[in-house]
Amino acid sequence: MTGWGLGLADAARERELLLRIIDTISQGLAMRPLAQGVAELITDATDTDVCFVLVLDADGLGLTLMGATPPFDEAAGSIRLALGEGVSGWVAAQAEPVVLVEHKRADARYRYIPELRGEDYTSMASVPMTSRPGIPVGVLNVHTIERRDFTEIDLRLLSSIGRLLAGAVENARLHERLARREQARERFAAQTVALLEAERRRLAAEIHDGISQRIVGLSFHLSAAAEAVGTDPVFAAGQIDAAGDLAAAALDETRRAIAGLRPSVLDDLGLAAGLESLARSVGEVPVTVEVDLGEVLLPDHVETALYRIVQESLQNVVKHAAATGAVVRLRAVEDRVELEIGDDGIGFATATPRPVGAGITYGLAGMRERADLIGAELSVTSGPGGDSATGTTVRLSLPAHAASPRSPGSPDRGV
Ligand SMILES: Nc1ncnc2c1ncn2[C@@H]1O[C@H](COP(=O)(O)OP(=O)(O)O)[C@@H](O)[C@H]1O
Ligand SMILES: [Mg+2]
Repeated sequence: MTGWGLGLADAARERELLLRIIDTISQGLAMRPLAQGVAELITDATDTDVCFVLVLDADGLGLTLMGATPPFDEAAGSIRLALGEGVSGWVAAQAEPVVLVEHKRADARYRYIPELRGEDYTSMASVPMTSRPGIPVGVLNVHTIERRDFTEIDLRLLSSIGRLLAGAVENARLHERLARREQARERFAAQTVALLEAERRRLAAEIHDGISQRIVGLSFHLSAAAEAVGTDPVFAAGQIDAAGDLAAAALDETRRAIAGLRPSVLDDLGLAAGLESLARSVGEVPVTVEVDLGEVLLPDHVETALYRIVQESLQNVVKHAAATGAVVRLRAVEDRVELEIGDDGIGFATATPRPVGAGITYGLAGMRERADLIGAELSVTSGPGGDSATGTTVRLSLPAHAASPRSPGSPDRGV
C-alpha cells in the first residue's frame, strides 16, 4: 500500500484519473449524476474509502451533499450544512483546505452527522471547489478508514479536480435554471391564450353586469327628469341627482375595469400610476404605494409581470387576509429591483404550495411562473394564521440587468 498512491508515486494512475474525470464532467451531466460520478472516481483512483461532493446552494448560504461513494449516495440531496458549519462549511467559507489526520472529533470545526458514519473513518482531507480564485462553488471531502498523512501533492491534486469540477457544477446549475425557465415559458405560452379569454370574459362581465346596468338606470332617471321638469321640478331634481349618482358609479366601475387591463393603463400612465390605480381598485383595504426606481427603466414585459403579481397579491389580500392595510413597495436597491407586497392580515401556512403545471395556474403558482419568466426570485413569507396576526409578504427580487438604465442622451446624462 503506497498510501494515497498518487502524485509522483503513480503518474500513470493520476493521468488515468484526470482523463476519466474530464470524461465525466464533459458529458454535460446534471448536478446529481455529475457529483455522483466524480465521487466514485475520486474514491476509486485515490485509494480512499469515501468521497463526498458538497455543492454550495444557489443562495450561497449552505452546502448540500450532491454525490457520495455508495452507500452514502443514498444521502445525496438530503444532507445540508450551513456555510461555516462543520469542516466542509469552514472550508467553503474560508476557501482553504483542511486535513485532519486523526481525532477529528477533537477539532472544534468537526460536526458529527450520523448518516455519514464519521466514526468509521480516521483521516480526512477537505478542499474547496473553486472556479475563480476565492469563490468556492462547493467542497470535496475524502475519508480513509486507516490513518493517512495527506501530502501537499495529494491536496494539490484534489484541488485541481475541485477546479475542474467547479466549472462543470456552475454549468449544471445554469443549465438547470435555463431548463426551469424553458418549462415555465412553455406553460406560459399555453396559458396565455386561456388567460386572454378569461380576461375578455371578465371584462365582458364587468361591462354587462356593472357599467351597462348603471347606464340603463341613468338614462331611465334622465328621461323621467325630462318628462317632469315642467310640471314637477322637485321630482325632476331628485331624478337628476339619482342619475348623477349612477354616472359616478359607472365611472368608478369603468376605472376598476381599466385597472384590470394591462396595456392601456401601463402604456398610458406607466407602472407607478398603474400600481396606484390597482391599489385604488381594491377598494376595501387601504393600500399604500411607494415606487422609487431611480435611474432604472424596466422593459415592458417586466412591467407587465410586476403589475400582474401586484394585482394577484392585492386580490389575495382582499379575498383572504382580513387585513386592515397593505403596502406595495417597488425599489431599485444597488444592482437589483425589489418588489414587496405586504399586508397585516391573518397569514397562512405557506409550506403546502399548490401543484404547478396542471392546466391554467393563477394565484401564487401563476405569480411564481411569471417571476421565473423574468428571471426573478419570488418568496412568500406568512405566519400560519390563527390568533396572532402576522400578515403576509410577497417579495420579488430581480437583477437590474433585466431592467435597463435610462438611455444615454437623456437630459441628466448631459451628453
Ligand atoms: N395575503 C394573504 N393572506 C392570507 N392568506 C393568503 C394570502 N394570499 C394567499 N393566501 C392563501 O393562499 C391560498 C392560495 O392563494 P392563491 O394561489 O392566490 O389562490 P386563490 O386566491 O385562488 O385561493 C389562498 O386560498 C389563501 O388561503
Ligand atoms: Mg389568489
